[in-house]
Amino acid sequence: MQLPKHARIVEVGPRDGLQNEPQLVPAAVKIELIDRLGAAGLKTIEATAFVSPKWVPQMGDSSEVMAGLHRRPGVSYPALVPNMQGFEQALAAGAQEVAVFGAASEAFSQKNINCSIAESLARFRPVVEAARQHNIRVRGYVSCVLGCPYQGEVQPAAVAEVAARLLEMGCYEISLGDTIGVGTPAAAQRMLDEVALRVPVECLAGHYHDTYGMALANIYASIEMGVAVFDASVAGLGGCPYAAGASGNVATEDVVYLMNGLGIETGVDLDRLVDAGAWICAELGREPASKVARAVLSKRRKQ
Ligand code: HMG
Ligand code: MG
Repeated sequence: MQLPKHARIVEVGPRDGLQNEPQLVPAAVKIELIDRLGAAGLKTIEATAFVSPKWVPQMGDSSEVMAGLHRRPGVSYPALVPNMQGFEQALAAGAQEVAVFGAASEAFSQKNINCSIAESLARFRPVVEAARQHNIRVRGYVSCVLGCPYQGEVQPAAVAEVAARLLEMGCYEISLGDTIGVGTPAAAQRMLDEVALRVPVECLAGHYHDTYGMALANIYASIEMGVAVFDASVAGLGGCPYAAGASGNVATEDVVYLMNGLGIETGVDLDRLVDAGAWICAELGREPASKVARAVLSKRRKQ
């Protein structure tokens, strides 16, 4: 198997990582986290979500975070937008990239964004149109690609259908979310096989939560299928407010360590990333969930 030379990591810690935190994290802390992640070499950092603060109170400061970013050249700071209202707020706050988020499961779509899959696609269309007029890139997410907390099994064909619709609409990349982290490598490859019939593999990203500890294995299985973009959350922060029990995304530190070992270049400095993770964990009063971060920190303490 020919491994890719480069992989892109989409850091989702400031959004997916923090959205489930019960204590409100000050906007200044979020902005500093994003800055530290940029300093570690991450080139795409999902900064926030322009969603209803009644649904996700932690993202209630999205305009303040987006407007307060210390933007680095060559770094993109996308924000989630579920509808035109979110897009207009994102635009006003200076967003230059946004992401729409749908699901392959009807039940999850209802719980997460209060509408059916068909309705969600109808809401995304004007967002993508308006974004095009403003030269704003749009990423598309599909949730529940390997299982749904409400309906259980999700067919790969259902994933492929939503992914293809998002691509046709104009999304430049489709991130496939194992929202509740139930997938295993064989299931991930079966799903990718089906999706790749409709969406070029160069346009796919893997977004694996680590609830069952399978995220790294699923990433490796996805690399074998030609995927070279992965979403990850520093220190493994996170969960999903509409997927009870789901733990955080795969930790960015663990993904960087894996890629370094495979000789796949990410442009991320592991030491600086571990520092950023240790910093936000100290702010939140906990240890990093990343095994790599724990190992690096423990080795440093012994030196
Ligand atoms: P709704 O109640 O159906 O919306 O919510 P509505 O259009 O009927 O409006 C109701 C109220 O919401 C109104 O306010 C609107 O102004 C307001 P009121 O008059 O009652 O005061 N509203 C908004 N406020 C701020 N920003 C907006 C917005 N739109 C309407 N954009 C809605 C629909 C989508 C807004 C709601 O369901 C929502 O905000 N959901 C958030 C879901 C969310 O953020 N989930 C987590 C992110 S997705 C995820 O984590 C998965 C992912 O990581 C991939 C994976 O792991 O699979 C991406
Ligand atoms: Mg997620």
